[in-house]
Amino acid sequence: MKTSRLPAGLPPGPKPWPIIGNLDLMLKNKPFYHWINNTMSQMGVEIFCIRLGNIHVIPVTSPEIACEFLKKNDAVFASRPIVLSAEVVSGGFSAVTLTPLNDQWKKMRRVLASSILSPATHQWMHDKRAEEADQLIRYVYNVMKSNNGVVDIRFASQHYCGNVIRKMIFNKRFFGKEVVNGGPGVEDVEHVAGLFSILKYTYSFCISDYIPFLRHRFDLDGHEKLVRQANESVRKYQDPDIYARIKQWKEGTRIVNEDLLDMLITLKDDEGNTLLTAEEIKSLVLEITVATVDNPSNAVEWALDEMLNQPHIFVKALQELDEVVGKDRFVQESDMSNLHYIRACIKESFRIHPFAPFNLPHVSTRDTTVAGYFIPKGSHVLLSRPGLGRNPRIWDDPLLFKPERHLKDDKSQVILNDPDLRIFSFSIGRRGCAGVNLGTTVSVMLLARLLQAFTWSPPPNTPYIKCVEGASEMLPSKPLLAFATPRLDEKMYYSLFEN
Ligand code: HEM
Repeated sequence: MKTSRLPAGLPPGPKPWPIIGNLDLMLKNKPFYHWINNTMSQMGVEIFCIRLGNIHVIPVTSPEIACEFLKKNDAVFASRPIVLSAEVVSGGFSAVTLTPLNDQWKKMRRVLASSILSPATHQWMHDKRAEEADQLIRYVYNVMKSNNGVVDIRFASQHYCGNVIRKMIFNKRFFGKEVVNGGPGVEDVEHVAGLFSILKYTYSFCISDYIPFLRHRFDLDGHEKLVRQANESVRKYQDPDIYARIKQWKEGTRIVNEDLLDMLITLKDDEGNTLLTAEEIKSLVLEITVATVDNPSNAVEWALDEMLNQPHIFVKALQELDEVVGKDRFVQESDMSNLHYIRACIKESFRIHPFAPFNLPHVSTRDTTVAGYFIPKGSHVLLSRPGLGRNPRIWDDPLLFKPERHLKDDKSQVILNDPDLRIFSFSIGRRGCAGVNLGTTVSVMLLARLLQAFTWSPPPNTPYIKCVEGASEMLPSKPLLAFATPRLDEKMYYSLFEN
């Protein structure tokens, strides 16, 4: 006898209207990610389907289903949406992160893996990162002395990340003038603010992303203007330096590779021709600069906030730092594999306080069935970062910051990624993060240095109030201000000023 199986249906979700689908819900409920996560938990579902225009958007909060998408069906879901914000920022899809699955993506991803993010290059860039780790202490020390001990942790963290990547790419800390305390001037404040605006407005539920007819014609929610402005405010500092450097190589006035930009300019294809165009270099530089600033600075700001709320975590972290590093030298990258507790703090911050509500969208390249549901070609799969990391089915006390969850009985190293996607940090599969090593290094070093060099408490006369998430972003609603006192002998700080 012939058996017939019912065709799989779409995942559960609101009934769509003809043509617009559920765009009315997207426009009524801002920020839309709140509505999605709340509705999913009220309905008790871990996969959902919303139709925006004619695109099926599939949010997921189940680690098991997330793995079905990114492990079992990795090849099917390895593309990215073609949307205006991504097109503007990526210079017409000429780099990696925002580029759909095609030969351009393959070429540029290979460039990252084999050259600028390879283990050998990571080693080569060590001294530049070490210089910025020292600069971080100098800067925080100066702010502490000149501002009655009060330090803006967000500002210090975001600019440390910006400094590290600028030093690696351009061999300089700042595009503009350094201010007297060692911090950024107006130019670099604008540069880093532009990077964060790019992050805010790329893939941000913009109506023209779902009604292609509107693209380039009507800027209904003003996103197009904001993305273009942000892109411009970053590129106006980066691009002239890139052109000037290309010219130096062409004219033969530069002959030695000193940084990642030199490396990109001098890459050759199999026939010995220049591998990358100026457009490709500019877009790749922008992408890796953006990629270095967001997650590490956000993880450290939240980790310190959680520690101010639970001081026993400070005690454990400092005990580890004193045992592994001591107080006579500053923590170095070579110590990082032994800083299990510090690494666990960062991992716990990634779990509860991801920088963004969703992973970058993964687009399906054909119709397929996942977890028993039909997922049409062209769907945008959105893994919910807080949905996975705070899933109450997976985690006890999901909102409690408890680094101990990640410590291993055998004291082996705490790896910040989770291949089973119960925590969403670097993701997995062919579109997984290309900068895991650098991202781990920057995050762990930032937290370890801040903890080792300073004792932190709430600002004087301020009752400690735990930060809350912003209304439309996952960052703390206000930058974390904390009170610092030196934790090490004064001569340790002076040694940095002598260099
Ligand atoms: C703690 C730091 C970082 C975290 C948590 C992180 C996380 C992520 C995530 C979640 C993705 C998307 C994966 C997906 O689509 O499934 C991603 C993609 C990417 N990341 Fe990172 N990242 C970090 C640092 C970096 C750094 C420092 C770089 C390079 C300098 C970098 C380069 C990239 C690139 C190029 C992609 C795009 C990969 C592709 O589409 O093929 N990331 N990252």
